[in-house]
Amino acid sequence: MLVEETLVLVKPDGVARNLTGEILRRIEAKGYSLVDIRLVQADRDLLTQHYAEHEGKPFFEPLLELMESGPTVAFRIAGNRVIEGFRMLAGTTDPTTAAPGTIRGDLGRDWGLKVQQNLVHGSDSPESAARELALWFTR
Ligand code: PPS
Repeated sequence: MLVEETLVLVKPDGVARNLTGEILRRIEAKGYSLVDIRLVQADRDLLTQHYAEHEGKPFFEPLLELMESGPTVAFRIAGNRVIEGFRMLAGTTDPTTAAPGTIRGDLGRDWGLKVQQNLVHGSDSPESAARELALWFTR
């Protein structure tokens, strides 16, 4: 068995739309466990570290502006193969084309803004999960 932990973020667009409970409900209904939870007003230093691999991409600045625009809810989630499992629950990046049944596919859409408001983030590998959990849960 491969018990893992992952970082899930309900981004400011998800918090503002009062979807935190619905997103946690889906994670728990799948059978994963909530280990820790924090409400964080992310600053530029945290976000620059979190999204370091995307610096220089066209969406980097709009993404940081979205993430600074209000509070984020961070979950530490545990379960067998939860890193891959949560990313399947989240759906693909663009909420317009994310599959129905996923968080982004069911709850997200294009609001006509320059930034993808895609509700959630999930770590993409064990290495990312360890690095991101340390960033969001030890400050
Ligand atoms: S990449 O280039 O393939 O690595 O990009 P991707 O994995 O799809 O996305 C990386 C993170 O950037 C977010 N993203 C965006 N945010 C805002 N606007 C646009 N256009 C955009 N494109 C990608 C995407 O949601 C990923 O962030 P997280 O927080 O991990 O979801």
